[in-house]
Formats: sequence, structure tokens, C-alpha cells
Amino acid sequence: VSDMLVDSFGRMHTYLRISLTERCNLRCHYCMPAEGIQLTPNPQLLSQNEILRLASLFVASGVNKIRLTGGEPTIRKDIDQICLHLSNLKGLKSLAITTNGITLARKLPLLKECGLTSLNISLDTLVPAKFEFLTRRKGHEKVMESINAAVDVGYNPVKVNCVVMRGFNDDEICDFVELTRDRPINVRFIEFMPFDGNVWNVKKLVSYSEMLDTVVKQFPNLKRQHDHPTETAKNFKIDGHLGTVSFITSMTQHFCAGCNRLRLLADGNFKVCLFGPSEVSLRDPLRQQASDDELREIIGAAVKKKKASHAGMFDIAKTANRPMIHIGG
Ligand code: GTP
Ligand code: 5AD
Ligand code: SF4
Repeated sequence: VSDMLVDSFGRMHTYLRISLTERCNLRCHYCMPAEGIQLTPNPQLLSQNEILRLASLFVASGVNKIRLTGGEPTIRKDIDQICLHLSNLKGLKSLAITTNGITLARKLPLLKECGLTSLNISLDTLVPAKFEFLTRRKGHEKVMESINAAVDVGYNPVKVNCVVMRGFNDDEICDFVELTRDRPINVRFIEFMPFDGNVWNVKKLVSYSEMLDTVVKQFPNLKRQHDHPTETAKNFKIDGHLGTVSFITSMTQHFCAGCNRLRLLADGNFKVCLFGPSEVSLRDPLRQQASDDELREIIGAAVKKKKASHAGMFDIAKTANRPMIHIGG
């Protein structure tokens, strides 16, 4: 383990998020513009071998958790093979996925066999008609099925990500909390973040403190839990409920001081922070036969340039970035 992954503020980066594809089987408003996105031509996307070469370099340098994202990662036909190879990397402790759950239920047993240790499923409404509006597609019952399937095959907790948007689903917060009553589900309410093409505006942002008030009114025995220092979530539990409730407060109380995340995008760009335009290509040197040492130097230099924190919510909204569908969260 070298200091390649330590930034100039002493933060060690042990968590790599790999976007496997820019494609998705949904079209969520908060993730991509109505007109769709410019897809990177296939030859410019990382192949399975390229992903594995880079991932093993990161794991050899200290990464112990990989999360597969997208687009929708389960769309990729070789997802099971990718999981199998990644889970065999020595030093990797956790192999996770963030998925919309549309085609997950039937793939789940195989993915589990291939070493997938945890999963986060995105679901923003419990009302099928609202789901269709937000995602511009059908499939609500499939996501519900996948959540149940994930519980049934033994994932514990199954995290359910809910991006809260005023006037859309802020009236469903307590219904989401009900999901935690009898099942090992961790419902995570996420503050709405601005990305290119998602028409963010501050009026749609429902803050952590407002969400918390809503939950406490209906569930006064909500208790604060311990958070891991590198975690995105602030965790709570309701007495008597099997599951837990969390809040991801990127906008009103950022958690950059504990950040341990890096991102590899589907086109091979390396991104050291979710926000801001700073990216460097690892695909190009890889394809020019760069050695491991040369790649380490490029990665290390980018990590050293990482900022202490993002610039605050109004600056984020003004700074160029990519649409969320390219970044994978
Ligand atoms: P765990 O690994 O289970 O802790 O999940 P996670 O929260 O890291 O990842 P997930 O893909 O489930 O994302 C949940 C929400 O957290 C999404 O809205 C992400 O965009 C956001 N998120 C993930 N990583 C970061 C980050 O480094 N910074 C910020 N500000 N938000 C993040
Ligand atoms: N703000 C907050 N979270 C978002 N996600 C997608 N777009 C946004 C946004 N604009 C969430 C997805 C998924 C995770 C990767 O990021 O719902 O759960
Ligand atoms: Fe890390 Fe950037 Fe997210 Fe802050 S905004 S937690 S620095 S990735």
C-alpha cells in the first residue's frame, strides 16, 4: 500500500465507485435531461479487462470497497463476471451495487453467488403513477419485488435510496418509514442535489432538518444511531422497528471531511469528487500501454488535487459537472 490514495488533507481513499455503463432502463428527471444524454461511443467505454486492470491497481493500493453504479449497472451483460473477478481481488472486503431494481430480482441469486456483498436500491415513490411520471417508464412493482427478493436472499440491511423533492414525494416520507417496521430495510432520505440537466432549484430541496421534523412528528421514539466516520448517512432507528432510517445531507450538512470516495466513470475518466468538473482519463494511458507505475502516478496526482470540500450548494448549482447518469452518484 502506497500513499497514492492519500490526499493533501490526509484523507485515505478506500472506496472506489465504478460506473459500468451510461445506459439506463429508466429516465428519471433528477438524473438526466428530458432530451436524453450524449452516449459515449462503445469503443471509448472501458472493457471488462480494462475495468479489472484498474480495479486491481486500486485494490493493491488500499481500496477495500467497490461499488458498481451506472447508468444502471445490471444492464451490463457481463455484470456477473465482473462481480466474480472483483470479489476475488485480495484485499477487497465489500462489493456493493446501487441499482434501480428493475431487472434485479431474477439476477440476484447469481450476483450473490458471484460475491456481491451489499446492495442499495433506488425508489423515490410508493405510488405507481408517480413512479411512471418521475422515471418516464413503468416498473414500480418490479422494484418492490426486487426489494423483497433482496431481503429474502439475506441482504441485511437492504438500503432503499429515496431522493426527496418538494411537491413530488415529501408527503410520502412517513410511508417510506413504514417499510422499516418488519423488514431489515434501511430507508435513506436523500437531499436533492443539482447536476447538469436536472433542473434543480432550491425550492425543491427538502432539508435534513425538515425531513427529520416530519419523521419525529409521527415517530417520536426515533433514536440517533452511530455513523461510521466515512459514511454519507446520518442514521436513526425507531424503537420496535426491525429496519433503520437515515438521511443523506449533501446539501445542508456536507460530510466531505470524512470523504473516502473516488470514482471511475464508464468512459475511463477518473473523478476525485462528485461535484466539480475535474476529471482525468485513465483509459487513454491504459490504451497507450502505460505501466502500473505510470498509472499510479496519474492517479496519485489527481488525488492530491482533491479539494477539502465542495463549494456549497449554490456554487455547486452554478459549476459545470456532468449529468448524474454519467457519474453514478
Ligand atoms: P454506502 O456505500 O452504502 O454507504 O452508500 P453510498 O451512500 O455511498 O452510495 P449510494 O450509491 O447509495 O448513494 C446514495 C446517495 O449518496 C446518492 O445521492 C449519492 O449521490 C450520494 N453520495 C454517494 N457518494 C457521495 C459523495 O461522495 N459525496 C456526496 N456529497 N454524496 C454522495
Ligand atoms: N440528488 C440526489 N440523489 C440523486 N440520485 C440520483 N440523482 C440524484 C440527485 N439529483 C441518487 C439515485 C441513486 C444514487 C446513486 O443517487 O437515486 O440512488
Ligand atoms: Fe467527497 Fe466531494 Fe462528496 Fe465531499 S462532495 S463527500 S469531497 S466526493
